Amino acid sequence: MKFSQSLCLTLLLTTSLWAFAQVSPKEVNGARNTAAEGTRVDTNVSFSLRMSLAGDETLRNSATLGDSVSIRATIRPEIADIGKPADIILVDFLPPVLSMRNSDGNFVSWNGSLRRLVPYLEGLVLEEELDVEVFSGQLGATGNHRIFVGFLVDDALYFTPTALRLDIEEAPASPLALAQALFNSTISPIIVQSKCIVCHVNNGEFPENLVTTSDPDHLNKNFNVFNLLHALRGTDFILNKSIGLGHGGGAQLISGSTEYNNLQEFLGLLDQSASD
Ligand code: HEC
Repeated sequence: MKFSQSLCLTLLLTTSLWAFAQVSPKEVNGARNTAAEGTRVDTNVSFSLRMSLAGDETLRNSATLGDSVSIRATIRPEIADIGKPADIILVDFLPPVLSMRNSDGNFVSWNGSLRRLVPYLEGLVLEEELDVEVFSGQLGATGNHRIFVGFLVDDALYFTPTALRLDIEEAPASPLALAQALFNSTISPIIVQSKCIVCHVNNGEFPENLVTTSDPDHLNKNFNVFNLLHALRGTDFILNKSIGLGHGGGAQLISGSTEYNNLQEFLGLLDQSASD
């Protein structure tokens, strides 16, 4: 008993530490490409890449689809290039799609040829350490994005030969959407249409506000009846009525039964969505 408790605690601590594990900027030594020399890696140029959510400094390596993200690069050019204007390049590789950010700020497909590479920002004056927000907004697709940054100065292209990797994940379903799904799959057929409807049907006994399956929109209409009643009277009021506590219709469900637990889970999701 003692052992398993301390094991649990250890697991809990490790998982929470893991969740708060610090994400550090990605440090990359630059590569250089020129028409005459091809690509070389013997440069002093280095980059530091990082992502956070817009309006939040905490660095992250993942975000949810729809999150507004901010991707920043610190560029350290060759000393000889300080003070020169440079054009900034941003490439996003979301396998198998390779795209570059163009001067309109949009991501357009890129065939991988350096001659076709266009900058999205022109004439930025290089400093010893230049901090640029290379992207802000939503990355419109889920998956593991690999972000490459570069700049053109004189006739040379300096770039990050390795990428900053970011996971863009599907947004989890909202409690309201989960409540709706549970209503449609379970609450409606097993509880509403087989029990409550007997008395609570439109034009039936008070409160006559549920509709039968003969109404093609019954799922939405009945969901709204429950959602509204829940907002007005709360979860316990409805649960109590269902088990016959102060209910003109008596006990329709048995406390602890699968039906009752489903209704409780459904109302719990409405609670969560109300407190969101
Ligand atoms: C045998 C008829 C009958 C059945 C079946 C029935 N009810 Fe009722 N219900 C009533 C009557 C009568 C009232 C009005 C008196 C009262 O408030 O208890 C009522 C009232 C309610 C109220 C209060 C409504 C309000 O607006 O204040 C709730 C909530 C409720 N019922 C829930 C349910 C649920 C959930 C079911 C299905 C599991 C159900 N009832 C099945 C007869 C029934």
